[in-house]
Amino acid sequence: MTIYENQSLLLLNTFHIDASARYLVEINSESDFLSLITDKKYIDSNKLVLGGGSNLLFTKDFNGIVIKNNLLGKELIKEDDEHYYVKAGAGEVWHEFVVWCIKNNYAGLENLSLIPGKVGASPMQNIGAYGVEIKDLFKSLEALDMQTGENVVFTNTQCEFGYRESVFKRKYKNRYFIKSVTFKLNKHPKFNTSYGAIEKELEVMGVKELSIKAISDAVIRIRSSKLPDPAQIGNAGSFFKNPEVPGAKYESLKQGFPTVVGYPLENGNVKLAAGWLIEQCGWKGKREGDAGVHINQALVLVNYGKAKGSEIYHLSSEILKSVHDKFGVDLEREVNIYDHL
Ligand code: EPU
Repeated sequence: MTIYENQSLLLLNTFHIDASARYLVEINSESDFLSLITDKKYIDSNKLVLGGGSNLLFTKDFNGIVIKNNLLGKELIKEDDEHYYVKAGAGEVWHEFVVWCIKNNYAGLENLSLIPGKVGASPMQNIGAYGVEIKDLFKSLEALDMQTGENVVFTNTQCEFGYRESVFKRKYKNRYFIKSVTFKLNKHPKFNTSYGAIEKELEVMGVKELSIKAISDAVIRIRSSKLPDPAQIGNAGSFFKNPEVPGAKYESLKQGFPTVVGYPLENGNVKLAAGWLIEQCGWKGKREGDAGVHINQALVLVNYGKAKGSEIYHLSSEILKSVHDKFGVDLEREVNIYDHL
C-alpha cells in the first residue's frame, strides 16, 4: 500500500475535471485499509472514498487523501426457494456486476443496467432507475469503521434509504469504508416495466417473451439514447434531484403551466420532473464555455472538454436560480460537491 502525493484526479472522475489530490491511495485488500488507518498522513487529512467517481464534482483541488476502493469479488453466498443472495466487492464495476447477475439468472437488477459507478457507491445514494431502487433488493453491507478499522454490518433498515439518500450521505458521512454489498435477488423474476419508456422500447425491439435480459437490453437502449456516455462527454448523470412539492403547489403550478410533469406520491406530495422545469427555463442544450446542459436531458450537466469544476458549479447555481424565479421551486443538487466553494 503506497500513499502517492499530488496526484491528478482527471481519470478518476466521470466529469473529467482536472483537479488533483494532496494524497491518493488504492485499497486492494482489507489489510491495506487496516495499515492505512495507522498512517499519520491518513489520520491528519480530510478523507474521500472514491468508487467510480461518477457522482461527484471537484470544484477545486482536494486538499486531503483520496482513497480508491478496489475491493473485488462476486459470489453466490446462499439460496432458498425464492431468492439468491449475492455478494459483490465494493470496487466491482456496477454494470459488469448487473450483467453477471443476468447471465446467472439472478433477477432484480436488470432495470439498473448501465448505471455508471461501482458497487460500493450503490447504497450510498440508493441508486435508482426505471421504477427500481437498490433498496428494493439490498440485503446488507459490510464496512470498516474509518477510524478504528472495526468490522460493521448494516441491514436494509439501518441504511435508512430514501430517494437518492442513505445514512452514509448524512449522519455517517465519511465514517465507514464499504467492503461489500449483498443483494437478495429473485429466482422467479418480477418484471418491472411500469416505467412507460421500457414497454415502448420492448415493442420497438420486437420482444415477444419478456426476460430479464430483454429488459436490461431495453434499459441500455433508452439510457444510451438519452444520457451522454461519460467516456465521450464528461458528466455525472442527473445533476439535480427531482423535487417533491405539496399537492397544492403542484395544482397551482398546473394552472400556470398545464404541461408540468409530476408523479403523485403516496404521502400526497408530487414529485416534479426537474428536467422539465430546467428545459422550460431555456437551459436545455445551452453551453457556457465548456460547461453545458445536455441536449437530450436537461437534468444532466456536461463538460465538453476543459471545463473547470467551478464553472459547472456556477452553471448549476444559475439553473437553481432561474427555476426558483420561474416556478418557486428549489432544486437540490444530487451530485456530491468537493469542496464547497
Ligand atoms: N423531461 C423534460 N425535459 C428534459 C428531461 C426530462 O421535459 O430535458 C421530462 C420527460 O419528458 C419525462 C420526465 O421529465 O416526462 C422524466 O424524465 P426521465 O424519464 O428522463 O427521467 P428523470 O426524472 O429526468 C430520473 C433519474 C435518472 C433515471 C431516470 C429513469 C433522478 C434525479 N434521475 O431522471 O437517474 O435514470 O429517472 O428512471 O431521479 C441519475 O440519478 O443520475 C439518473 C440518471
